[in-house]
Amino acid sequence: MAKLLYFLTLVSIVSSNPLVFKAEEWTLGNFTKQDAVNPVMGPNENTTFFCPVRQEIVNWEKKDVFNPTALVRDGKIHMLYRAEDEVGAFKGTSRIGLAVSTDGINFDREPEPIFYPDNDDANIYEWEGGCEDPRIVELNGTYYLTYTGYDGTLARLMVATSQNLRNWTKHGLVFGKALNGSYENMWSKSGAIVTTLIDEKFVATKINDKFWMFFGESNIYAATSDDLINWEPVVDPDENSEDEYNLLPIFGPREGNFDSDIVEPGPQAIIREEGIVLIYNSRNKDPNNGGDPELPLGTYSAGQVLLNKTSPTQLIGRTAEYFITPDRDYEIIGQVNNVVFVEGLVNFQNKWYLYYGTADSKIALAIIE
Ligand SMILES: *[C@@H]1O[C@H](CO)[C@@H](O)[C@H](O)[C@H]1NC(C)=O
Ligand SMILES: *[C@@H]1O[C@H](CO)[C@@H](O)[C@H](O)[C@H]1NC(C)=O
Ligand SMILES: *[C@@H]1O[C@H](CO)[C@@H](O)[C@H](O)[C@H]1NC(C)=O
Ligand SMILES: *[C@@H]1O[C@H](CO)[C@@H](O)[C@H](O)[C@H]1NC(C)=O
Ligand SMILES: *[C@@H]1O[C@H](CO)[C@@H](O)[C@H](O)[C@H]1NC(C)=O
Ligand SMILES: *[C@@H]1O[C@H](CO)[C@@H](O)[C@H](O)[C@H]1NC(C)=O
Repeated sequence: MAKLLYFLTLVSIVSSNPLVFKAEEWTLGNFTKQDAVNPVMGPNENTTFFCPVRQEIVNWEKKDVFNPTALVRDGKIHMLYRAEDEVGAFKGTSRIGLAVSTDGINFDREPEPIFYPDNDDANIYEWEGGCEDPRIVELNGTYYLTYTGYDGTLARLMVATSQNLRNWTKHGLVFGKALNGSYENMWSKSGAIVTTLIDEKFVATKINDKFWMFFGESNIYAATSDDLINWEPVVDPDENSEDEYNLLPIFGPREGNFDSDIVEPGPQAIIREEGIVLIYNSRNKDPNNGGDPELPLGTYSAGQVLLNKTSPTQLIGRTAEYFITPDRDYEIIGQVNNVVFVEGLVNFQNKWYLYYGTADSKIALAIIE
């Protein structure tokens, strides 16, 4: 198995603060794609679910499964993955399924989704695009799930809690109460909450008396919270900010690079000795017009950044190159071609396991060996 490319050069980017660490001093390590077992999960045409909104039975994971989050609970890896049906006008409503594994490779799936659009207060935000791209952290025996509610037009970051991963309370929009509701119709996605790894659990951790989250799908922004449910974006102190919502960009795309078009958080962020490590997804521009010339237009690859752990809006390290990029057939061809989208990071039996969506169709695994 070929090791993934890893460039360790210190880079300078558009930032008022210099990057003080070299990548080899803080990145998690080299992830190796597990070719012998990948993809570890694909769609399933056999499972059915009575959709309470549609009022009919659907093959809820028939079309595609992808973009999973993961955690260790009772010594087993639990994966919460996005699954799409192919019915109705939308032909791809997303629900979230649960699969459990004792070895990280072979998963037993629950026959029905554990999180889905229902006839509830969240329905106006979730129907009929659905509940997409889960990310999970925990605190005091409660799991906090951030996910994208998609009404078919607008993507909005939402939050739900559970004690057992099966019964959930939806709390609505993460920015619903902030600034008197003025973020309600802001496009928002991908909430990666800042955590500490404690005995295989990723525990939400306060910095300067607040919980922190990175989010966004263009630049990456930050938000803070007292309760992990109601969040406020960090705004730009520059009053002449050109951002419609005056958000403070923590870091953005880089012209000519694999991350030239957009950047978007990956799994939960982790406080480590050197700082907060955030794995991020990114998309390439046209290779002939501002993108990485060696990657096709629209390719999703992933990099890593390091943020100051006492001042989380300060970028202090960034990998010059991607550490994972699509190059296997199931990563190149699918619902959306040329995509690896990393979202599920666990530390299981002292090894890093990274689960990722491939071409928005299947799920694969990379491990630091
Ligand atoms: C990662 O891979 C590169 C290139 O093969 C190698 O130089 C480096 O030492 C590796 N890093 C670790 C932490 O294994
Ligand atoms: C669906 O059922 C068929 C027939 O029993 C079986 O061959 C196939 O493996 C099943 N698919 C999955 C993903 O379990
Ligand atoms: C978690 O538990 C600690 C100690 O019991 C408590 O101080 C804290 O308020 C709890 N946090 C939340 C968000 O429930
Ligand atoms: C979860 O919800 C189901 C169905 O509503 C209920 O039967 C069950 O008792 C609940 N379990 C827990 C642990 O709350
Ligand atoms: C918040 O919005 C409500 C309804 O539009 C308005 O009545 C209220 O004055 C606003 N509060 C603030 C602090 O802007
Ligand atoms: C992190 O921020 C603190 C201020 O909160 C500063 O003193 C420290 O130098 C910063 N660390 C790095 C590595 O830039």
